[in-house]
Amino acid sequence: MFSRVVRPAAAASRSISTTSKNNRKVAVMGAGGGIGQPLSLLMKLNPTVTELNLYDIVPYTPGVAADISHIDTPAIVKGFTGPDQLIESLKGVEVVIIPAGVPRKPGMTRDDLFNTNASIVRDLIKACAQACPKALIGIISNPVNSTVPIAAEVLSKAGVFDPKRLFGVSTLDVVRSHAFIGAAKGVDPRKVSIPVIGGHSGVTIIPLLSQCKPAVDFDQGKIDALTKRIQDAGTEVVKAKAGAGSATLSMAHAGAQFAFSLIKALNGESNVIECAYVKSDITESTYFASPLLLGKNGIERNLGIGKLNDYETQLLKEALPELKKNIKKGEEFVAKNP
Ligand code: 2OP
Repeated sequence: MFSRVVRPAAAASRSISTTSKNNRKVAVMGAGGGIGQPLSLLMKLNPTVTELNLYDIVPYTPGVAADISHIDTPAIVKGFTGPDQLIESLKGVEVVIIPAGVPRKPGMTRDDLFNTNASIVRDLIKACAQACPKALIGIISNPVNSTVPIAAEVLSKAGVFDPKRLFGVSTLDVVRSHAFIGAAKGVDPRKVSIPVIGGHSGVTIIPLLSQCKPAVDFDQGKIDALTKRIQDAGTEVVKAKAGAGSATLSMAHAGAQFAFSLIKALNGESNVIECAYVKSDITESTYFASPLLLGKNGIERNLGIGKLNDYETQLLKEALPELKKNIKKGEEFVAKNP
């Protein structure tokens, strides 16, 4: 059920197999930043992307586009900068990935980024509503637990919200779980598959070790330590970078993996499954990350959270109030700052 559909190495490799038709237009919004640049590079390396629009407010964005455009893969790359070019950068785009915004510094939570990133996401989504209302949109900008509800409110106000087409990218939590479990068990992380549900910050990140494939056997102490490490992994990177930002390279990889899965689904491939944070009715939280079957119109089916053990049930109980608070904050922001 949780079989993985895009292999990390394959995502950036010449040996990538393309059974799909090659006609997908992608935009990276925030392409000049720490995540945006490597994410744009990975998008250019994938031959299923044929047009790649790179947008950022930073004036050197056309330079990033010029640089990436010299790579000998099919995608035609265009750079766009500043509010005047925002709408143009999104015209005809089918997949929009948004890493725009400021990153954390040591001591900050993702929620501390809200004041800056909320309006950035609001304005980019307003432009999506106008220029590419049918696009599949993946939001990386933190705090994802709040920026996705912000995007949903903006799209709703514009009359174009389709809950099947809006995603908070929580792929990095899954990627980290594979890496940490693989290391702990001495197995190739690419062979590990585990759903991570809830949200994308601290206690809202819930790795379901009981549903890991292959099945893994850890004592309760190790389960607790692994769970906490996965929940705090973003902070681990923020601390290690000592003021220079948060995860960029692993996040770019995760964002690219998610975007490639959207493209595979658009191209009609079957059994494309990714966890993501979406509008949801499977718990009492109105947005929730869970495994999703992806199709041509975005979410084909929410695969739900399966059977949780007592430990995971307790994690879910701890996550729900935080998720609800984060969601309310996003919705109230748009109500007050339309
Ligand atoms: C992380 O989990 C940046 O939110 C991102 O590290």
